[in-house]
Amino acid sequence: MMKEIMEQPQAISATISPRIGNDGRIILDGIALTQEELQAFNRIFILACGSAYHVGVVGKYVIEQAARIPVEVDIASEFRYRMPLVDERSLVLIISQSGETADTLAALREAKSHGARVISIVNVVGSTIARESDDVLYTWAGPEIAVATTKAYSTQLAVLDMIGLAFGEALGTVKKEEYNEAVAELQKLPEKMEQFLASESCEAIPKYASQYFNHNSVFFIGRNLDYALGLEGSLKLKEISYIHSEAYASGELKHGTISLIEDGTLVIALGTYAPLFDKAMSNVVEVKARGADVLALATESHRGEMAKTVENVITIPDTAQMLLPSLGVVPLQLLAYYIALQRGCDIDKPRNLAKSVTVE
Ligand code: BG6
Repeated sequence: MMKEIMEQPQAISATISPRIGNDGRIILDGIALTQEELQAFNRIFILACGSAYHVGVVGKYVIEQAARIPVEVDIASEFRYRMPLVDERSLVLIISQSGETADTLAALREAKSHGARVISIVNVVGSTIARESDDVLYTWAGPEIAVATTKAYSTQLAVLDMIGLAFGEALGTVKKEEYNEAVAELQKLPEKMEQFLASESCEAIPKYASQYFNHNSVFFIGRNLDYALGLEGSLKLKEISYIHSEAYASGELKHGTISLIEDGTLVIALGTYAPLFDKAMSNVVEVKARGADVLALATESHRGEMAKTVENVITIPDTAQMLLPSLGVVPLQLLAYYIALQRGCDIDKPRNLAKSVTVE
């Protein structure tokens, strides 16, 4: 798993580079959806399981913001049995590292049986999901062996970002300067990841892990993209360290769950999404007032503000808003890794888990 965490900059570069032309425009391989074809879709579905589903939650925020098309994200095992309102006006994005996950394959077939157009984002060339899709966008992450995904997750994110930008450009819903800035930042993502991996913030993660590995309940809180990121941070921790944790939209805490916050409860507060930073800060104050032990994640430009309230702050480089989860996931992967190491867990092959669940 550590090898694959460290391979992420290269994996992202391999996934992005072939899809950005010399003119700086994004090319989605052979998928040339014209403006009128895109306008014919009244809804986009994103269907997946596990971490791939968490990519879809980020994708909803990114694609809706860029392309202004309604996006519905669904856990594949739920979608396939809820008589979904999918038809020939639906565009379905299937996300799967292995391309063999039974629930995701069944959801693909359900969508196709109702006439939907299916594009899949897959890491294994020639896998069943790839073969049964109308179009495939491969994540060139290379073989991923560790059961808990890392580089497949971050390359899937990069593909979803490119889809959002390409659709936004075709529909004219993304301003040219915003598009150019996002594409430029996308191309800098590998080096910004390397920058984080070489940073003091990154070096401090094993120390935080030795402070926190004995907790038996952890909350990841955040808003918007930080909430979507928290879902993956929480699953990483559960999968490899066996610590119960949950990701919570921090604005929702006051509607019940904050009753669980008591003296010493570990809260990982994600505050990278700038437009809601002040709201995120007030949620940090709320949980601290109830005795929570807070470890925060912030961008370099917000580090100072966060450090006024939180002692332990992990900092990531600033980047385009839509790319924040791509950088923010790396410290969360490493935190889960070092906590699991402290607990003596089998990190690459966690108990009860399979790399690809090809049965229901
Ligand atoms: C789980 C894996 O079994 O399946 C996760 O451990 C993965 O890492 C999930 O996110 C979905 O698998 P896939 O191959 O469809 O992405």
